[in-house]
Amino acid sequence: MPSTETVAEPLVSLRDLHLSFGSNPVLKGIDLDVHRGQAVSIIGPSGSGKSTILRCITGLLQPQRGSIRVGTTEVHTLAQESQRIELRKRVGFVFQQYNLFPHLSVLENLVIAPRKVLGRNRAEAEKDARALLAKVRMEHKADAYPGQLSGGQQQRVAIARALAMRPELILFDEVTSALDPETVGEVLTVIRELTEEGMTCVLVTHEMRFAEEISDIVYFTENGVIVEHGSAAQIFQHPTSERTQEFLRHALGDPGRRPRVANDPYLLTNLSRYSLSV
Ligand SMILES: Nc1ncnc2c1ncn2[C@@H]1O[C@H](COP(=O)(O)OP(=O)(O)OP(=O)(O)O)[C@@H](O)[C@H]1O
Ligand SMILES: [Mg+2]
Repeated sequence: MPSTETVAEPLVSLRDLHLSFGSNPVLKGIDLDVHRGQAVSIIGPSGSGKSTILRCITGLLQPQRGSIRVGTTEVHTLAQESQRIELRKRVGFVFQQYNLFPHLSVLENLVIAPRKVLGRNRAEAEKDARALLAKVRMEHKADAYPGQLSGGQQQRVAIARALAMRPELILFDEVTSALDPETVGEVLTVIRELTEEGMTCVLVTHEMRFAEEISDIVYFTENGVIVEHGSAAQIFQHPTSERTQEFLRHALGDPGRRPRVANDPYLLTNLSRYSLSV
């Protein structure tokens, strides 16, 4: 279990966030805090607004109502794209689709943004890139091209690329859901190590056991609202809302809270995925 000291002022603070796509209300009053050094997970059914919340934090989407603060930046007030680009230098975002530059080597994928966006010199950027590749255990592929790597390897490079910008926090949106089961564990291991080192992380994940293991705080969303939030132990072991209980029952494949029925195929799928992550 992570034990991270929290400071009074959260690094990220969302208050009463409302966002609609046309006439479709997607966020209906979201309050969420992330303190420095915390790993915060957002779990919930498909379409409940999890990715939309992350996109608001990076300024990719503007809410109709409510406030978003990242550090001292009032994100909801940013009117110009250049201001939002400044914000995105500080907030790493890793998606399900890793989107590496296919025509650049692994090393160049890590070097390009620090050089072009942060103006760092070649030697320094390359030294950092190699250290980050070692951290995600990809240093032996520095000269390979993305198309020559497995999905899990590409995703680890994508994480290293996000880290190369030295972000204040990093957002992960379902980063393992497009991967073969064999490579899920290696990506989760990298994320676990980052959280243990105190990197501030917000994770949207369907890997429930992983969320339980690494999160300081877990938010359960449904239908554009936060149904409940609390410590991982609280949410996974003693959820108070009927809705959270039902969701976890399905997600964990168990009528109780802990797997007991060995012949449930959904449960077996979950367990085998989990075992790769430990
Ligand atoms: N650009 C968009 N235009 C219109 N509707 C959108 C757009 N992006 C998301 N939505 C809608 O907003 C709702 C919430 O979507 P969101 O992607 O945040 O859900 P999610 O919780 O991340 O789901 P999943 O677990 O499937 O990724 C969905 O009903 C979706 O169809
Ligand atoms: Mg999503």
